[in-house]
Amino acid sequence: MNTQLDLAALEKLGSLHKHGQIIAIASGKGGVGKTSATLNMAQAAAKQGKKVLVFDADLGLANVDVQLGVNPARDLSEVLTGNAELEQVITRAPKAGFDFIAGRSGSDTLPFTTALDRRNILKQIEKVAANYDLVLLDIAAGVGDDVLSFANFADKTLLVITPDPSSITDSYAVIKLLKAKHYKNNCQVLINQANGDIEARNTYEKIRMAADKFLQIDIPLFGVIPHDKNYIMAVRKQTLLLESFPHMPIADTIRGLAKKLIDQTSD
Ligand SMILES: Nc1ncnc2c1ncn2[C@@H]1O[C@H](COP(=O)(O)OP(=O)(O)OP(=O)(O)O)[C@@H](O)[C@H]1O
Ligand SMILES: [Mg+2]
Repeated sequence: MNTQLDLAALEKLGSLHKHGQIIAIASGKGGVGKTSATLNMAQAAAKQGKKVLVFDADLGLANVDVQLGVNPARDLSEVLTGNAELEQVITRAPKAGFDFIAGRSGSDTLPFTTALDRRNILKQIEKVAANYDLVLLDIAAGVGDDVLSFANFADKTLLVITPDPSSITDSYAVIKLLKAKHYKNNCQVLINQANGDIEARNTYEKIRMAADKFLQIDIPLFGVIPHDKNYIMAVRKQTLLLESFPHMPIADTIRGLAKKLIDQTSD
């Protein structure tokens, strides 16, 4: 297969915009809070009247269904084995307020086997996105081919970064490889688990300066989610913040981020 042509075709697909905005939630390092941020923003956007789809694109360690506490009847494995179209494996989760596509069956892992698998899935995401305002892709941590393909395909990539130094350096690697392999610069930074405004600002400045100095890339700040014990409790209870702690400041933060996603979408 001609990879250059393949990539060019995907770029074109992604830029047609006959669909809802497709946003990838990525991180260099694992465990920084991608899945919980994705689901909480998805619910907040749904409560603001948007039709939202979450795609569990962490094919190795898919766990959107676990965090939601929903047992999906169908999942992505049927699509990868050619037994279903993506549209057919969408799980409706009325209580959550949005739809999702589960990434696994039981404890099986599901890496894409070929670039063709990947291309097929991206094409199908493009198709189902026509029925939604927002499609959030919860992608795996790191800089693997799957990760970079999803991030490249998305209209926008939110890079979740914590103040942990390894999170900052690993995120830099994502920005660098997206540029090197896909000539793409669509990242915005979502600082998570910051202890206070100063730590959040310092974390953002480190990644902003590195991207500017070494890659000549301007990487805007999308938003900040503080470290919050209610967050941990909600995850343990398999609920979302707006359900468990709707009146806490963290819920307002999440609502604000969802509003920003929606506002940026309609730009
Ligand atoms: N703002 C926050 N405050 C406190 N704890 C948080 C916050 N964000 C995430 N966490 C905690 O971090 C842990 C990891 O979160 P999550 O599973 O969303 O990360 P992830 O990036 O999706 O991980 P993985 O890379 O394994 O998919 C969870 O236990 C969650 O409660
Ligand atoms: Mg996750």
